[in-house]
Formats: sequence, structure tokens, C-alpha cells
Amino acid sequence: MALLLGVSLLALALSGPTVAFVPIGGSASTHVSITGTALLQKVTETCRAVAEAAGHEFKPTGSSPAEIVQACLGPTATGDVSGAKFQSALQEIYVQNGLVDRNFVHSAPHHFDSEAFLEGRGLIMEGLVAIKANIREENFKAARETLGRILHTLQDFYSHSNWVELGYTEPYINLIRPDLPLENLADVNTATCSDCASGTCSNPILPNILKEKKLTSGYMGIFTSAKPQGKCSHGGVSDLTSTVVPRGGISKDERRSDNVALHEAAVKTATAASLQLLEDIRSAAGDKDFLRMMGIARSAVVCFVIDTTGSMSDDIEEARSVVYQIIDSKKGTQDEPSEYILVPFNDPDFGPMIRTTDPEKMKTEISKLKASGGGDIPEMCLSGLQLALTGAPSSSHIYVFTDAEAKDIALKDTIVALIRSTKSTVSFFMTAGKRGRRSVTYASFNDYSDLALASGGQAIKVSKNQLPQATDVILDTSTSALVTVLQRARNTGREETFPFTLDESLKNITIYLTGTSLTFTMTNPAGISQNHNEASGKLGTIKTVGNLWRIRLNSDKQSGTWKINIKTAQPYTLKVTGQSTITFIYDFVERFTGPHPGYAVISGRPQSGQPATLMLSVIGRKGPSSMSVEEVGLVIVSGPENVTNGVITDMGNGDILVTVDAVPEGEFVVVLNGTDKVSNSEFQRQSTTQMSVSKVNIQAVVGSSVVPGENFNFPFSVMTQGAGGTYTINARNDRNFPMTYPSRLTLTTGRYANATLTITAPVNTESGTDVTLTIEAKSSSGADSNYAVLRLSVVTKITDFYQPQCEVFGVLADDCPKDLSQCGSFHWELSANLTDGNGTGIESISLRQGNGTLSHPSLPASFIQASYNASCCSQIVEFIAVDKVGNVGKCYHAIVPSGGSVALSLSLPLWLCLLVSALVGRP
Ligand SMILES: *[C@@H]1O[C@H](CO)[C@@H](O)[C@H](O)[C@H]1NC(C)=O
Ligand SMILES: *[C@@H]1O[C@H](CO)[C@@H](O)[C@H](O)[C@H]1NC(C)=O
Ligand SMILES: *[C@@H]1O[C@H](CO)[C@@H](O)[C@H](O)[C@H]1NC(C)=O
Ligand SMILES: *[C@@H]1O[C@H](CO)[C@@H](O)[C@H](O)[C@H]1NC(C)=O
Ligand SMILES: *[C@@H]1O[C@H](CO)[C@@H](O)[C@H](O)[C@H]1NC(C)=O
Ligand SMILES: *[C@@H]1O[C@H](CO)[C@@H](O)[C@H](O)[C@H]1NC(C)=O
Ligand SMILES: *[C@@H]1O[C@H](CO)[C@@H](O)[C@H](O)[C@H]1NC(C)=O
Repeated sequence: MALLLGVSLLALALSGPTVAFVPIGGSASTHVSITGTALLQKVTETCRAVAEAAGHEFKPTGSSPAEIVQACLGPTATGDVSGAKFQSALQEIYVQNGLVDRNFVHSAPHHFDSEAFLEGRGLIMEGLVAIKANIREENFKAARETLGRILHTLQDFYSHSNWVELGYTEPYINLIRPDLPLENLADVNTATCSDCASGTCSNPILPNILKEKKLTSGYMGIFTSAKPQGKCSHGGVSDLTSTVVPRGGISKDERRSDNVALHEAAVKTATAASLQLLEDIRSAAGDKDFLRMMGIARSAVVCFVIDTTGSMSDDIEEARSVVYQIIDSKKGTQDEPSEYILVPFNDPDFGPMIRTTDPEKMKTEISKLKASGGGDIPEMCLSGLQLALTGAPSSSHIYVFTDAEAKDIALKDTIVALIRSTKSTVSFFMTAGKRGRRSVTYASFNDYSDLALASGGQAIKVSKNQLPQATDVILDTSTSALVTVLQRARNTGREETFPFTLDESLKNITIYLTGTSLTFTMTNPAGISQNHNEASGKLGTIKTVGNLWRIRLNSDKQSGTWKINIKTAQPYTLKVTGQSTITFIYDFVERFTGPHPGYAVISGRPQSGQPATLMLSVIGRKGPSSMSVEEVGLVIVSGPENVTNGVITDMGNGDILVTVDAVPEGEFVVVLNGTDKVSNSEFQRQSTTQMSVSKVNIQAVVGSSVVPGENFNFPFSVMTQGAGGTYTINARNDRNFPMTYPSRLTLTTGRYANATLTITAPVNTESGTDVTLTIEAKSSSGADSNYAVLRLSVVTKITDFYQPQCEVFGVLADDCPKDLSQCGSFHWELSANLTDGNGTGIESISLRQGNGTLSHPSLPASFIQASYNASCCSQIVEFIAVDKVGNVGKCYHAIVPSGGSVALSLSLPLWLCLLVSALVGRP
């Protein structure tokens, strides 16, 4: 007992406020803070380069993600820009980074434990190849998830190996360069550590290891204390090998009094190594796609799913007209969409999904759609929607145009799972067939209403000739900073008054109601009211079409508590939205324990019978310190009104952990309120995606990528806390790749049942393709169910690890005057031979530094001669050659203006540059 107490006290002391290399903790240096520092620095550098290339200055008003995004998107910033997508991207990377400590806790290579150097580097390389391939295919989410994982492994090298003990202060570049060997590794028979009885010796590495600069890492044993003789241990209470001689450990995970210098060196080098890896990805991807991967792009995305059967020609024409209107009216503003997605569906076909960043291409594609075929049968609406949900970025607004029932209603559960996991909103525009031939039955409209409500979207039902009046909704949501203040649905037919708070930051405030035979009165904070029948009143303009009411408030200066009183006997929905940079992101999480405890995002519905936990970040205009959050709670959208508030724990850095003990029974959303300190105004926000808890739990972990043509076995396990028995298993993927899995599992209450799913990507699958896999488990009564949504990447095994080579020659800079004030009228030039003879061929060349003109013959090619010409004012040039699989080679050159001795006094760094000029490629 006494021993146990001692151990836990020690653990407590060790995990004080400065624990590092731990998942999430809000402390000084963690995997999150190392990753965050590197990501923000690399993003800032990239933003600066992009701004300078476009001829403007990059001047963020502060260092918060929201301010970086605003500055990065440039001076077209008419309108607010939300930092939410950047923040979500960061969060996704952090979460995957942290999960390595749960999902791969026993895997030495994932942590560079137990001298698994080659295997550890193998993971980094496999990941790097997958990330580059994913970015190429614009599968940014898959890229981010892998990035989080490999950054963890890379960072652990500096904590778990003796790299910093050997005196190195720079990262080990060979870990991200498979063409360079890992050398001087201590072999299994070489003793590496001296015994350390106290467990905390400042540097137990044997002197000869230090002298010979042999690389080793600590052995880690969670279940066993066995390790090869003489080897270092990881150390710490959960490492059983640390009590076997040589005792102690070399892990620098935590900052202790005996290892301050080494710990700090490890953090510093791990940060530098993370930056190197990010620079490699940035170079391969190009600045624009690197930023898109980081969620830095204008946030509006236009995503249409369109029925193209025979009776749809008017609807297609209206969709086309809306797309043209969005493109033409928002061009050059922050509200201009950054991406366009179009999914046609018919019967029996659907897709392909068209995804483009080019507005002209979108115009062409949507103009090409023709209504034809289909007949009287319902169509493949949900299959089309599935493609849109998996292809669009998270939190997109998706619009479905149709005039018929969905034939593929069996996909409904999958669609709900995808809505929950992507947090995208889906709105339906249902039109009744003109000739009345294919009138919509209520049953299917109700299904569409269910899906719309589950996602926070709207189901709008109009006649075909009314459709043009209903599509304002699309224009309203095609903006860079849309937020929801309030959303409710009611079925009761009772009169009800809904209060809501409008804050000063809100613009373009719009209230939507869907329902028939309803009347309402809204009242502003000053007590002024407007009725549903005053189309143009003191408070706003009311438009109504079909089942939709749209109320645009007259003025943005309306902060305070508003009320809307609604009377109807019919079901209805209410939604209050506006544009604001004050928003929040959240995930339901669960705590995990182990040597490095942390929080994992739940991929399905949270467990019932226990408190629900959320990790939440509020994004304001000036970073986390400009916001205070007062209350966070869960509420059932479809009433009765009953907000259950959670307990808020500040995790630092704007992250808030919320624990809700009394989780509502039913479909709930997250509501929060607080104060924006910039305007000293109270705000209220609500999430759009509905969630509910479940007794069923599915565990599944993505660890590696899928190789085309090979079976990929994917283990998963299912557990229920409800009644045991037979559960049906249903799995789907958005690429229609063949899969096998057990269609039934017999569950015993409280015990995980294990199963394996096998998926095979066809041999000709493009490397970088992502596959969204949805696994559902349902009890035989249908009462209990849950799902898991996972993203797999298909990556071709690559053998080309050769970087393109660069050789600079023919530098002509003699004209450049020593007097810099006169440099403007003179030019210099150089030539460079670029080869990728042993590789897949150079596919792109881009200028990284220098304000000149780079020209080269057409690509791809395995050998080319490039020439560069610049003003003598621009004295440094760096350009990058990238081959087909993303290996990056660099050319660098700096000139010194002629003029003899004066040139030297001009600037020393410039002179030094000359020495390092020429070949920066393969050493
Ligand atoms: C939003 O409001 C701004 C002024 O606050 C206005 O210029 C803009 O046109 C509005 N946008 C929409 C979509 O109505
Ligand atoms: C509100 O919800 C909580 C949790 O679901 C429940 O315990 C409580 O009884 C509800 N209150 C009302 C007034 O319905
Ligand atoms: C948040 O909401 C609660 C209850 O709805 C209210 O008591 C509180 O004053 C609100 N706080 C702010 C800052 O709006
Ligand atoms: C399922 O696998 C886990 C480890 O992956 C194991 O602990 C568990 O006992 C297995 N369950 C069954 C029912 O075999
Ligand atoms: C560059 O390539 C050309 C054409 O193959 C060759 O003649 C020349 O020698 C090369 N220059 C250098 C410096 O390698
Ligand atoms: C490329 O291949 C040639 C012959 O196949 C070989 O001599 C050369 O060393 C290789 N280059 C690299 C960089 O591996
Ligand atoms: C780049 O060169 C152009 C014309 O040569 C000049 O107008 C511009 O200011 C230069 N930009 C920088 C950043 O030096």
C-alpha cells in the first residue's frame, strides 16, 4: 500500500505543469504545443510568401488562428472571415497526434521505442507518401489525419532516442529522407546505458556510446520487463523495463529537475523536425494546396446535388442560375466560394462527383446538365448525397434539388452517420412535378425533412415555378462566416415564444421558418413588434414561398434579447442565422488512460449511461482571450425546451472541456453563450448537427493505407451496454469498393465482439484516393444502434525516393552594380540543369524565393534546363522541382553585386550565401 502511494505521488510530481510529449493537457510543452508551434509558424511563412507573391503585405493583427486566416486570405477582405476551418484543421491534426498514444500504445515503431528506428522511419515515410498523394487528389482531411500521426512519431524520436544526448541540436534529416541511410545504430548486442538506481539520472548513456555517436532509444515494456542486456529503458512508472538493470530511463517526455536541459533540447529539436517535415509537404504540395490542407481558404463552398431525370429541366435551370449568381456577385470578395461540388443523380445512375476550384469550370459543368430519362420510378437521391457528404469539406452546406422520392432510402442511416461525422448541413428543395405526373408523397418528403433537421438544414417544398423565389436561402448561406444563433423544431401545435440573443458582431441576420398555416410575431429588445403579415415592417422584410418564410432583419444594430412568438397547429422549424466571426467548433470526446492519457474524438454516437464530454473551442475576433464562455449545454431541438448545462473546464489555449452529466434523451445539439470582450456584447450560438447517445459502441482504428489490388483487413469490435443478442452489421463505402464482413454479430452485454472487414481497392485506383467507410451495428429490434465513420487512403507502394537534382551554371551577374540604389535597371541570370533520371520525372517547378522570371520547357520530363532572370535588386533565388510522387529537390543561388571590396562590406550574410550557393539537393 505504502509503495503504491509512493508511486502515485511520484507520478503526480512528474506530471506537473510542464509535462511534454503528452497528448492534450493544456500544459507548457505537449505534443499539441510542439505541433501547434510548428504548424502556426509554417502557415505564417506560407501566408507571407503567398501575400508577397501577390504583391501585398501579410500583416495579421495578432497571432490567433482567426487573425492569421483573415490576413492570409488577403486584402479582398470585404466581409468577415471565420477562423473555424483553420481551427478545426488544427484540432484534427492534434487529435490524431494524441491518438497515437492510445491506438498504438504497444507499438514500438510509433514511438521510436526499443530501437525500432527503421520501422519508425518506415511509418513516417509511408505517411509522407500518403499525405502527398492525398493532397494531390484534394483529399485534405485524410492528409491531415495522417499528418497528425506521423508528427507524433517524428517528435517522439527526439524524446525517446539519445539524439540530443549525442549533442545534436539539429533534427535528424534522414528520418524524412528515405534515400539517406540510418547509420551508426547501436546493434542489439551493444550495451547503451549505465544503471541508475534512483530512476532519475541526468544522462545515463554510456560514455563509449556518446563518443562513437551511436544512436539508441529506450526500451519500453508495458506488460513485460524484458529488454536486451545493457539497454536503456524509456523510464517512468508504466515502463516495467525501467526496474531492470540498467535501471532508470532516457525518455525526455517530462521536464524534471534532473533533465531540464535535455528535455528542452528535445522539445526544440522536435519542433524544428516538425517544421522540416511540414516544409517538405509544403514544397511538394505547393503553397496554395498546403494552405487548403490547413483549412485556409475562403470558407464558402457551393455544393449541389441535382436530380437530372426528365421532369427536372426547370429545376436544373434554376440551380444553374443560382450558381451563376453566386459566382458573378461574389467574385473577388471573401464570400466567393473556394470550391464547387456538383453531383448529378438519375435512375439508376448517380455521380460522378465534380469538384473544382475554378468557377468557370463549375459554370460549364452545370450548364452541361440535361434532364432526361428516369420515368416514374424514384431516384438515387441518397446515393448522390452520400458522394457529396464524403467529398465536400466538413461543415459544408449541401443543397439537394429533386422532385421525387428516393429509391435508395436504405441509405438513410448511412446518410445520418455521415451528416453527424461531417457536421455538414443538408437542405432539400422539393418541387412538385409540373404535370402532376410524379407528385411527391408525404412519406418521402418526411424522410428528407428528417435528414434536413438532423443536419440543421431545411426541407423546402415549393412548386416548380416558385423555386426561383426560394433559392435566396442558398445565397444567404454562401458566405464565409455563417453562424446559427437558434434552431428549433416543433410538432406539438402549441403556441410558443422563443427568446434569443443577438450580439453586435452579427450581420445579415435572417430568420427562417418552415411550416404551413402559421402566424408569428417578433419583438426586438426595445419592445417593437412585427407580425407575419407585415411584409415590410419596422423590424425586417418577410418573404414567403411554399412552406418557407424568410425574414431579413432591417438593421445589424439590433443587439439584445429578441423574441419570436409562433402559433400553429402544424409542425414547423425555426432558424436564426447571421454572419459573424464569433463561432465555435466542438467534438464529443472520451478520456483514455495509459502511460500518456488524453482525449479521443468519438467517431460515432457517445455512450449512454454516462456523462457526455465535449472538447470545444470558441473562436473570436482576437483569439481566445477576447472571449469568455458562460454556459455550454445540450438541448433537444424538437423540444420541449430544456437546456442541460455542462461543467466547463478551461484546458488553456481556447480549448474548453465540457462535461454534461444529465444527457438529454433524444436528438440534441450544443448551445453556448458568453461575452465577446471586444464589443462587450453577449452572444449566443448553437451547433447545427443533431446527436444522440447510444448503448452500442464500435471501436475501429485506421493505422495504415490501402494498397490497390491487395486485400486490406480492417479489424473492428462492437460492444453493447444494452441487451445482448444478434446485431446486424452493415458497412458501406463511398467508392463502391468490394468489401466482406460478417453481416451479424452476437453480442454479450458489456463485452467487445471482434470482427474483421476486408476491403479491396481495384488495381487501377489512383494513388491518393480516399475512401469513407461507414460501419453500422443495429440490434435486432432496431432500438439500439451506432456507427463508425473512418477514412482510408489508397496509396500505391512507391519505390522512387530520389529527389530531383539541381545543378546551377552559367551565372551572369557581372552587370549588377555595387551601389544598390541603382540595381533597378540591371539584370542577372542563371541556368540550371534539373534531372530526375532515376525517378518518376519532374512534374512541376516553382519559384520559392526571388523576384524574377523562371522559364523552363514543358513538363513532365526527366531532364530539363531552366533559366532564371531577375533584377539585380533581387539577389537570391530558390526554386523547387517536384517529381510525380512528391519528392522535392531545391536549387538555390545568391549573387554578390560586383564592385570588389565594397561588395563585402555590403552585407556579410549575402557573402555567406555565395558560399552555400549552387547545389541544395542531394548532398
Ligand atoms: C450582408 O450585409 C452587408 C452589409 O452589412 C451587405 O453589403 C451584403 O450585401 C449583405 N449580404 C447579403 C448576402 O445580403
Ligand atoms: C430536463 O432534462 C433533464 C435531463 O434529461 C431531465 O432530468 C429533467 O427532468 C428535464 N426537465 C424537464 C423540466 O423536463
Ligand atoms: C447564458 O444563458 C443563461 C441561461 O440561459 C443566462 O442565465 C445567462 O445570463 C446567459 N449569459 C450570457 C453571457 O448571455
Ligand atoms: C477482442 O480483441 C481484443 C484485443 O484486440 C481482446 O482484448 C478481446 O478479448 C477480444 N474479444 C473477444 C471476444 O475475442
Ligand atoms: C547541362 O545540360 C546540358 C545538356 O545536356 C549539358 O550540355 C551541360 O553540360 C550540363 N551542364 C552542367 C553544368 O551539368
Ligand atoms: C541512377 O542510376 C544510375 C544507373 O542506373 C546510377 O549509376 C546512379 O548512381 C543513380 N543515381 C542515383 C542518384 O541513385
Ligand atoms: C518585384 O519586381 C517588380 C518589377 O520588377 C517590382 O514592381 C516589385 O516591387 C518587386 N517586388 C518585390 C517584393 O521586390
